[in-house]
Amino acid sequence: MKSYYLTTPIYYVNAAPHIGHTYTTMVADTVARWKRMQGYDVVLTTGTDEHGQKIERAAKAVNKTEQEFTDIIAEEFRMAWDKLSIRIDRFMRTTDPRHEKKVQELFLRCKERGYVYKGEYTGQYCVSCELYVNDAKPGDPCPDCGRSTETVTEENYYFKLSAFQDRLLELYEKQPDFIQPESRRNEVISFVKGGLSDLSISRTTIKWGIPVPGEEKHVFYVWFDALTTYMSAVEGEGRWPADLHLIGKEIVRFHAIYWPAFLWAADWPLPKRVFAHGFLLFDNDKMSKSKGNLVRPLPILEVIGQEPLRYFLLREIVFGQDGNFSYDAVITRYNADLANGLGNLVSRTLSMIRQYRNGQIPASQGSPEIAEVAQTVVGTYRDAMESFQFSKGLEALWQLLSLLDRSIVQYAPWKLIKDTSAEAQQKLDTILYSSAEVIRLATALLGPVIPQACAKIWAQLGMAEPLESVQLGSLAWGQLPAGQAVGEATPVFPRIEAAPAVARMFELEEKEKARQDELVGKAPKVETPKYDIAPIAETISIDDFVKVDLRVGIVRSAEPVKGSDKLLHLKVDIGEAQPRTIVAGIATAYKPEQMLNRKVVIVANLQPRKLRGVESQGMIVAASLEGGSPVLAGFLEDVPVGARLK
Ligand code: MSP
Repeated sequence: MKSYYLTTPIYYVNAAPHIGHTYTTMVADTVARWKRMQGYDVVLTTGTDEHGQKIERAAKAVNKTEQEFTDIIAEEFRMAWDKLSIRIDRFMRTTDPRHEKKVQELFLRCKERGYVYKGEYTGQYCVSCELYVNDAKPGDPCPDCGRSTETVTEENYYFKLSAFQDRLLELYEKQPDFIQPESRRNEVISFVKGGLSDLSISRTTIKWGIPVPGEEKHVFYVWFDALTTYMSAVEGEGRWPADLHLIGKEIVRFHAIYWPAFLWAADWPLPKRVFAHGFLLFDNDKMSKSKGNLVRPLPILEVIGQEPLRYFLLREIVFGQDGNFSYDAVITRYNADLANGLGNLVSRTLSMIRQYRNGQIPASQGSPEIAEVAQTVVGTYRDAMESFQFSKGLEALWQLLSLLDRSIVQYAPWKLIKDTSAEAQQKLDTILYSSAEVIRLATALLGPVIPQACAKIWAQLGMAEPLESVQLGSLAWGQLPAGQAVGEATPVFPRIEAAPAVARMFELEEKEKARQDELVGKAPKVETPKYDIAPIAETISIDDFVKVDLRVGIVRSAEPVKGSDKLLHLKVDIGEAQPRTIVAGIATAYKPEQMLNRKVVIVANLQPRKLRGVESQGMIVAASLEGGSPVLAGFLEDVPVGARLK
């Protein structure tokens, strides 16, 4: 059996899995399934990158040993892929002893062949953070703590990267698809043409790493260590070289320059291809831990399932380019293409076959025009998938589905059924067969993208063979057997109502973050004011205080106020006959969809006041510093609507 080996990057354990890691891993799972459809024996490797100073520090910050800390996060990754039904064949951690051995072997082989030498490394070092500050000049401050850096010289092992400049350029020339897409290839070529310096591959300032054999105070530089997982994960299986390394664009240099050079130096074969995809932005903003806008995958799974996300990532984002992610966009895509598109087509087709043909696939060749388009689309889809143009392939498939939609309207089966002539009945058979056959082909092709939904449709079509065993090479028009009994068309893609789903995902996202923080033992950050707080107001009596009627309410609807970027128009239910209209100046901090179904505190007996022509019947309670962004008051435990604060 032909084998196919692909990898995702191994992820750093300083952050738990987020949507960026999920993107690469979901795409890898799709490619793996696609290759299985071509009869390959596929292995997909992922894992965790656990060494280095950042991890040392992260563990220390929460009073854990490095091993305890990395065990927890590695498990979070493993669990996430499992819950998302991503089939991971090998999960390699850089702390695995089998991996350590492989890294040491790589080093010894490079050394034996003369590609490693001892030298001195001089850089700007922050003693307090125990970190080198890249590109810093003497006297520059540390970007983390602000203290000034010191010039430090340490003994290091160096790798002769400079020896490989010409050979690398020759590789990119002779094997133009070694790095894809083209834009990344060009970037790498010009980088290499600019000249390569030798690379320091060991550190004496770090302890948390793989020891250099015979030089116990040295540990390996993280990239020398990390890249080797691609080999250690399949050690002894005869699967190396990898067919494909899927990565994000920011780590292309390590994969397209360092990695081939290390492998040449060790006299080991090179991977066949590196594909670097673009970055996902969240609401058009770069995601980062420090910004606190990381999107985690499990809340999405819990609220809408993983397949709307898989479909979105492959359909909406051009693989290789940056793309924007938002909860709303995922749901919009899902409702348009899956609920209204494919789902609707399946239920229409199956219910017509049940109603008009006793639930059996009629004997027919189908429509020659539809058959022809279908065959072409199968080819386009196949080429697109092979060249990682997932969105193009899916777009072509949906053109076929919309052709079918139009054909059903043209044939009008609901009219044909009333006409008993042989010609009308044959036409009815033709359109019913064509519909079912298009659905069969589309489902088989879509299997790698949305496997669970496709398995359901496949079963509803009455197919005997399991979907996973369908082979691409044997997919052709006209194989759907006449007389096959179709099943009940239970909805595979129920419509998702966006607003409550989005609100729920935001809510679960907060909980998931809190769970992960608690897991590593991180206490929530308590902010101590470093500024002058506003003076405390004049003393009042309790009688004065009880005059203020504060109530718990729930937001039933939220909309922006036209012409204002500060105001939101809310309907807040505090248990009265009608929700109250409240105009709140919180739009810079909260989006309407974040407000929906959220519990808030309002001043319920404040004199109504007109804002932008709308009468506001109360005020929402929020905290802020002078000129700062408002933060809504809320409760840690659940509170009934209408409860009074006293
Ligand atoms: N540990 C290194 C990789 C070593 S591979 C031998 C590393 N880890 S990481 O945790 O930072 O993961 C980086 C990878 O995660 C990216 O290359 C990409 O695959 C994925 N993504 C992380 N954030 C991303 C986005 N915002 N968008 C898309 N993918 C991104 O680098």
